[in-house]
Amino acid sequence: MKIKEVRARRIFNSNGGDAIEVEVESDVRTAKASIGAGTSVGKYEVNAYPENINSIINLVNNVFSKELRNLQIEKFGDLKKVEDYVNGHDTSENMNKIGGNVLVALELAILKACSNEPLYKILAKKKIKKMPIPLGNCLGGGKHSGGPDFQEYLILAETKKFDVAAEINREVFNAVKGELKKRDRNFIGGRGMEGGWNCSLNNLDALNVVRKAADKVGREYKIDVRVGLDVAGGSLWNGRKYEYKNFSRGNPKKNLNSEEQLEFIRKTIRSNNLIYVEDPFHDNDFDSFKELNKEACYICGDDLIATNPIRLNEALKKISAVIVKPNQIGSLLKVKEVINIAKDNKIVPIISHRSGETEDNSIAHLAVGWECPIIKTGIVGGERIAKLNELLRISEEI
Ligand code: PGA
Ligand code: ZN
Repeated sequence: MKIKEVRARRIFNSNGGDAIEVEVESDVRTAKASIGAGTSVGKYEVNAYPENINSIINLVNNVFSKELRNLQIEKFGDLKKVEDYVNGHDTSENMNKIGGNVLVALELAILKACSNEPLYKILAKKKIKKMPIPLGNCLGGGKHSGGPDFQEYLILAETKKFDVAAEINREVFNAVKGELKKRDRNFIGGRGMEGGWNCSLNNLDALNVVRKAADKVGREYKIDVRVGLDVAGGSLWNGRKYEYKNFSRGNPKKNLNSEEQLEFIRKTIRSNNLIYVEDPFHDNDFDSFKELNKEACYICGDDLIATNPIRLNEALKKISAVIVKPNQIGSLLKVKEVINIAKDNKIVPIISHRSGETEDNSIAHLAVGWECPIIKTGIVGGERIAKLNELLRISEEI
């Protein structure tokens, strides 16, 4: 196809912030895309948007639109032409001037405008037979809510069926509400940035609530429903220690050094049969990741890797899963590279939403088209449901 017109506009995100949507008109069709941005942003991510959001909107509408006109794009690899062009306008290491979100939204819109086929088919090399399984955020803490220090309490059902797993996540989510009503005097039904419940419980009591709900639903479905955590260790690390404010009932304030943190997380994995732990340590502690990676549990790098192929190459054998957030690196070509490196090294790539989302459902297509075994999303909230519902539609076709 040939690009005819490119437009950018400001839209709202789910966090009360801004996002940018890019629309591409080609000789085949018109398509639009946007992508989420984070709150607990890792040190090694590129900038989501330039400080003055209008500057990039004007640049796209007045300059990119003219200069990209007639550019020929037929396949995924042709995005190199787009990245070379856009990066020519911003030579900064962290995409200060353009913003990672803008380039990714542009690339997604271009790909969609290539064909009348759905995006996942444009990305797939062969006929897709497998759906990703949803890793659902059911209770929030850390920078996403008050209450526990751990940022996310997650659910993963041990089934290969997407629709069953998504339904189980929803049932656990509802069961957690029931438990919180019984155990948290301050609970009034509030939810955090990614749709997970807010509560005033400490880290371990909250874990207990989620486990209990997961076990109950698991028994009903006769499927193991396991619990995971996003510790977001970088947010707890003060440069010397991990600073907890809501550690346990009698002992809310607690500081742990690196060895103590390793021991604490190891014990938490074992005594709760956790299936997944994300960023248990700060963004530079590769050694502790390596040590923890001996556990029978996915040890996942999010802020540690920042969807950067160079950082993933440093982490081989130190993690068993990696979070893939397209806007962290601001390049779909590098996102694909990260997924390839992960698969070649038996690391599970997990496509992920961000706390500040839009209704765009492209990440559902990335997960299916690039055959990622897991997708991390919220369980409720329009911007989260947009991804899950698209996956339900896609699963009918597969
Ligand atoms: P963020 O949180 O989108 O606010 O960065 C998600 C995560 O840490 O996994
Ligand atoms: Zn994370």
